[in-house]
Amino acid sequence: MRQKLLSAGANELSYEIREIVKKAKILQKEGVEIFWENIGDPIQKNAQIPLWIKEIVNDLTQDDKTYGYCDSKGELTTRVFLADRTNRLGGVQITPEDILFFNGLGDAIATLYHYLTPTTRVIGPSPAYSTHSSAEAAHANHHPLTYRLDPENHWYPDMEDLRNKVKYNPNIVAILIINPDNPTGMVYPRDILEEIVDLAREFDLFLISDEIYNQVTYNGVRAYGLSEIIGDVPGIAMKGISKELPWPGSRCGWIECYNREADLEFNRLCKVLDDAKMIEVCSTTLPQMAIPKILGDPRYDEYRAELNEKIGWRSRFISETLQEIPELTFNPTYGAFYNTIVFKEGTLKSDQSLPVKDNEVRELVESWVEGAPLDFRFVYYLLGATGICVVPLSSFASDLRGFRITLLEEDEELLKQTFTTLRDSIRSYLDS
Ligand SMILES: Cc1ncc(COP(=O)(O)O)c(C=O)c1O
Repeated sequence: MRQKLLSAGANELSYEIREIVKKAKILQKEGVEIFWENIGDPIQKNAQIPLWIKEIVNDLTQDDKTYGYCDSKGELTTRVFLADRTNRLGGVQITPEDILFFNGLGDAIATLYHYLTPTTRVIGPSPAYSTHSSAEAAHANHHPLTYRLDPENHWYPDMEDLRNKVKYNPNIVAILIINPDNPTGMVYPRDILEEIVDLAREFDLFLISDEIYNQVTYNGVRAYGLSEIIGDVPGIAMKGISKELPWPGSRCGWIECYNREADLEFNRLCKVLDDAKMIEVCSTTLPQMAIPKILGDPRYDEYRAELNEKIGWRSRFISETLQEIPELTFNPTYGAFYNTIVFKEGTLKSDQSLPVKDNEVRELVESWVEGAPLDFRFVYYLLGATGICVVPLSSFASDLRGFRITLLEEDEELLKQTFTTLRDSIRSYLDS
């Protein structure tokens, strides 16, 4: 090519959650049965959508309107419904004009960071969810900028680390929280959220709160929405139906802008996002039209409560199974459907392995682990020896070594078997 085609930021795009699938598929071809613990898609893990939800979607397919474009910002009746839902929480009040639909939150995330000037930075949690950290890093042509979530303190944010980074880096314009968090499953307590709001107010920042798992909490905890605690600080909440309905294939998510009039620059950002969607015409119509009918149905809350009960049970079972390994730092989860488990420092070594019976599989695994970070090494051996596919923690912009699992397996017996095998494999890997 006559010119360099790519910006430096293009190197920042990585999504190990799906990268590991390539390796697993290679082993699958060699006859290894794979247990997919890598991706947060309940449908892939055999979640059943209730008939009444399917009937609503079915009826909508009979309405010609669902085949057309909708308003650029999104279907008005749905935005009225959602604004009312947020307003009933009693915090900051919004109108339907403060809501903007996207083709999934992934689309919202990419668009948001894309229009910020490259010198501005959004600081987000580490371990980091790659869709945010990669998109932000790509916009800034730099590595992700993160504050530490502390595995020794329930994965709560290290507030001193966050404050210092905000204080000494004037390029930071916003703080990202993911609540409940992916990949740790941590739910931000109210007092920590309030501290983050105060920090944003003090340094004239805006807040971004990814709330895609807002309704996915269990074992006695609930997640506060940004609207409930933000007061007069500008902020954007990101919401969607991929996880809570769950309907990830709908590609349907939305943002809510809070206090957009409070700051001229922030208001311009919100307007640019509206304009960007206008250029693109609009986002997926049918799922938007389904939202008030499904989320507003009296059966919905009960349905969601049942799902949360099931995830809560899995969380407790996995805690009981893995907590007993002294080399791990393990935190029970209360939200989302992941758990990130850390190997304590010094426990992983470059000569550890698991027995892999099949010669070809063993050779493949041995070729992958050469020079790989120590948690990748564990993950590849686990995959080769047991077929359990998890995501290495160091791929979530983290210096810690560990792995992420999901809490999605619908088959109780299979779940028990998978996590018992995982526990036994960790033990024999560390003892090898
Ligand atoms: C924290 C978080 N935000 C956003 C997304 C993307 O959601 P969507 O399916 O709406 O693009 C995910 C998906 O895993 C997620 O975990």
